[in-house]
Amino acid sequence: MEPNDSATASRRQFLKTTGGVAAASALSSIHLPAVHAQGSEMVQVALVGCGGRGSGAAMDAMATSKQGPIRLVAMADAYQDRLNSSHAGLSRANPAQIDVPEDRRFVGFDAYKHAMDCLKPGDVVILTTPPAFRWVHFQQAIERRLNVFMEKPVTVDGPTSRRMLKLGEEASARNLKVGVGLMSRHARHMQELHERIQNGELGDIILMRGYRMHGPAGFFESLPKPANISDLDYQIRRFHSFLWASGGCFSDFYIHIVDHLCWMKNAWPTKAQATGGRHFGESKEGVPFVDQNFDNYSVEYTFADGSKFLFDGRCMNGCAGMYSSYVHGTKGIAIASRANDCGTPSAIYKGQNVTPANMLWQSTNNTNPYRNEWEDLMDAVRKDKPYNEVKRGVEASVATSMGRMAAHTGQEISFETMLNCEHEFAPGLDKLTANSPAPLLPGANGRYPQPQPGIVTTREY
Ligand SMILES: NC(=O)c1ccc[n+]([C@@H]2O[C@H](COP(=O)([O-])OP(=O)(O)OC[C@H]3O[C@@H](n4cnc5c(N)ncnc54)[C@H](O)[C@@H]3O)[C@@H](O)[C@H]2O)c1
Repeated sequence: MEPNDSATASRRQFLKTTGGVAAASALSSIHLPAVHAQGSEMVQVALVGCGGRGSGAAMDAMATSKQGPIRLVAMADAYQDRLNSSHAGLSRANPAQIDVPEDRRFVGFDAYKHAMDCLKPGDVVILTTPPAFRWVHFQQAIERRLNVFMEKPVTVDGPTSRRMLKLGEEASARNLKVGVGLMSRHARHMQELHERIQNGELGDIILMRGYRMHGPAGFFESLPKPANISDLDYQIRRFHSFLWASGGCFSDFYIHIVDHLCWMKNAWPTKAQATGGRHFGESKEGVPFVDQNFDNYSVEYTFADGSKFLFDGRCMNGCAGMYSSYVHGTKGIAIASRANDCGTPSAIYKGQNVTPANMLWQSTNNTNPYRNEWEDLMDAVRKDKPYNEVKRGVEASVATSMGRMAAHTGQEISFETMLNCEHEFAPGLDKLTANSPAPLLPGANGRYPQPQPGIVTTREY
């Protein structure tokens, strides 16, 4: 049987029974039969968003084969070139588990639907497009009764955060398993640090610090759109440059450190105030940068108990680099991530000086968190354990967005203000076609609307 035969039959049956996704919330009290692969059953995977992370996540998924057979059977991307290069790379790296013939490779803004149609209920779909599309694709996955792995951030604004919270509940009501790519939570060294902090080894947490400061990375900055590409394609392909697509560099780059430090504190911040600015308006050649990002951000997050979390983000050449995170307690200091988003080893020191003589503990588990998050998800899928990281993923996305909005508006922003903010950056993405207008239009000078702290104060642009 082809991968989509049983899927189509089950889908018809499911829609007949439930009346479609609109009925999902009514399902919460109904016991649903397990749709999960028992240990030895083949789990089929579809990849939606075949870029760098999507291709990596597909490899991580395939690496769980010790738990049971698994293979990639369908791929979808908005663009043919991205799909081709991902398919070629994956097939070269893992020919035994990549089974995606031409007729299960789909291109375009509705490609996600076709790829999901190749799966049967209980299979797994990977959502690794820019985050703007997450709720659209997640909604479809729930309708198709698929387990999901989705990358962070899961939302970039208030309305989509509220939507995703509801979708997360619907996924639980349907007994679907959902992993979110905040991999610090699956980093074994950070799990041990978290446990040690809960056991009081640091005393009370009074301050946390996070840094991600390096040169321009990804599509942090953009020059004016060339004539041979539509505005829509330009913005999607360079998604870090545009707030609607990614939440900008702030949400895309900084969410990991915001997430894992808040985890160490077991709380989300109640409010944030922040500064930031654009220092370099043009390239060395004098061509204007037209993206929406600030070059640097400094955020002071406050928790309900009054303690603070200071975050510095910077994308500038020639400045000192720093990419790590720290937790200060009444008894000592911990290094959470030594380098990058969740780098080993974590460590605890007595007092506030990080010196070898003061070190009380250092982690020794160096397993790969990207692999761990898939081991954990597939364990839940195969053993039918409750598993849904959406609420936490949305809360991490909102906590990140509130720091960004505080910098972009120059106002103090509470968690509730961010969550309830009515500015939806890109409404109607579920109806997007290749001919749709871009969610953001440039001014006459080719520049897209940039945040103006103190001038535009109730929305970010
Ligand atoms: N957890 C991590 O450490 C980590 C690391 C890198 C990226 N990410 C996240 O993964 C996501 C993707 O990032 P990336 O670096 O792989 O970007 P990328 O540009 O390499 O990949 C994104 C892919 O999605 C495709 N795409 C865009 N819109 C689409 C749509 N509507 N339908 C189908 N395909 C679409 C693009 O063509 C591209 O191939 C982002 O949310 C990013 O934050 C997470």
